[in-house]
Amino acid sequence: MSMDLKGKKLVLGLTGGVACYKAAELCRALVKQGASVQVVMTEAATHFIGAVTMQALSGHTVYTDQWDPRVANNMAHIDLTRSADAILVSPCSADFIRKLAHGACDDLLSTLCVARPRHVSLLVAPAMNVEMWENPATRRNVAQLREDGIQILGPDAGSQACGETGFGRMLEPDELVEELIASFQHKVLAGRRVLITAGPTFEPIDPVRGITNLSSGKMGYAVARAAREAGADVTLVSGPTSLPTPHGVRRVDVLTAQQMHDAVMAKVEGQHVFIGVAAVADWRVANASDQKLKKQDGGAPPQLEFAQNADILASVAGTTSLSGWPYCVGFAAESENLMEFGAAKRERKGIPLLVGNIGPQTFGQDDNTIIVFDENGHTVLPRADKLTLARQLVSEIAKRLEQRSLLT
Ligand SMILES: Cc1cc2nc3c(=O)[nH]c(=O)nc-3n(C[C@H](O)[C@H](O)[C@H](O)COP(=O)(O)O)c2cc1C
Repeated sequence: MSMDLKGKKLVLGLTGGVACYKAAELCRALVKQGASVQVVMTEAATHFIGAVTMQALSGHTVYTDQWDPRVANNMAHIDLTRSADAILVSPCSADFIRKLAHGACDDLLSTLCVARPRHVSLLVAPAMNVEMWENPATRRNVAQLREDGIQILGPDAGSQACGETGFGRMLEPDELVEELIASFQHKVLAGRRVLITAGPTFEPIDPVRGITNLSSGKMGYAVARAAREAGADVTLVSGPTSLPTPHGVRRVDVLTAQQMHDAVMAKVEGQHVFIGVAAVADWRVANASDQKLKKQDGGAPPQLEFAQNADILASVAGTTSLSGWPYCVGFAAESENLMEFGAAKRERKGIPLLVGNIGPQTFGQDDNTIIVFDENGHTVLPRADKLTLARQLVSEIAKRLEQRSLLT
């Protein structure tokens, strides 16, 4: 379990909407990630969920009233944000969005949002009926919030508590936690488009059997999440995995190496960075059967013939000659002599950066050690969880993109 919010002080604001029922789960998830959570509720929010529940989950006194005599100097609206790192209003009602858009200060939560120091970021997770969300007044208010630098998380589309369907559904607690963690990361890839492959490929033998490998996709998904956290627009072309898509990442599912190649080539134009993390099959079964192969008593087992798959990294690297983009990053899993093979492979592939990991031990694991090879040598990123390594790799890539931009 990661503790990405360890040491962070958060104010969690609740406003009057049915999605308050998700706020309990959210509060618990934030605390589990190591955050200290101070809950502040509007009067309307207390009609949807009890302050006692929020107090028990956060472990801190819940404030609902700006005239609360428990605050020694009666300045809760000032005190609560002075040591905070961020304020997250979730759920955020249409009414509260209106208040924020106009700088209203008529209850404790709205007042402390206006009174927050400038370095304290404000994030809101709208939750409302689709008509409320699409109402021109709400649209105007949301645009104003964006202009004021308030981050809008979601909302999602789907079925709503009111029985209608459409945009206005609050993001799920785990998605909100991911967004909050992302808000604390440096935006070193802001404005960059990044294309990533992840997972294994699956090469059919017949309609029910195939050849695959032990890649879980964890490293590629971690790289996708880290790139998104760093502000990039991320497309993830994924082989078969059981992993959830990182929030805000565009995912394209494929099965075979050929499909992965075609999906990558269809998306590569306009990308600034390509990171090939997937464990792509080198060969496919050339004589795959359209029908399930039958075992015959005393009969010979099927004879498989193999054909070589296209090299995705080489195909992408081949497109860079004209524009210089995308910046290509390859991954290599070697079972021995990684140092020697890594450097040689980078040169052979003609790419600026190659990331080596010792396979097959890394497959499916949560931790990894990686070595980054470039034209100046190598850098070891010591053993850590894959998301930590992915964030370090993203900053290594960003550094090199920066140098490149300076040179061109
Ligand atoms: C049963 C019920 C459900 C409501 N659900 C929502 C909602 O999901 N989103 C919303 O913006 N307003 C919703 N409202 C309206 C708000 O509660 C109302 O606008 C309130 O004044 C908001 O106050 P606040 O912004 O101070 O919390 C609901 C009202 C009721 C009675």
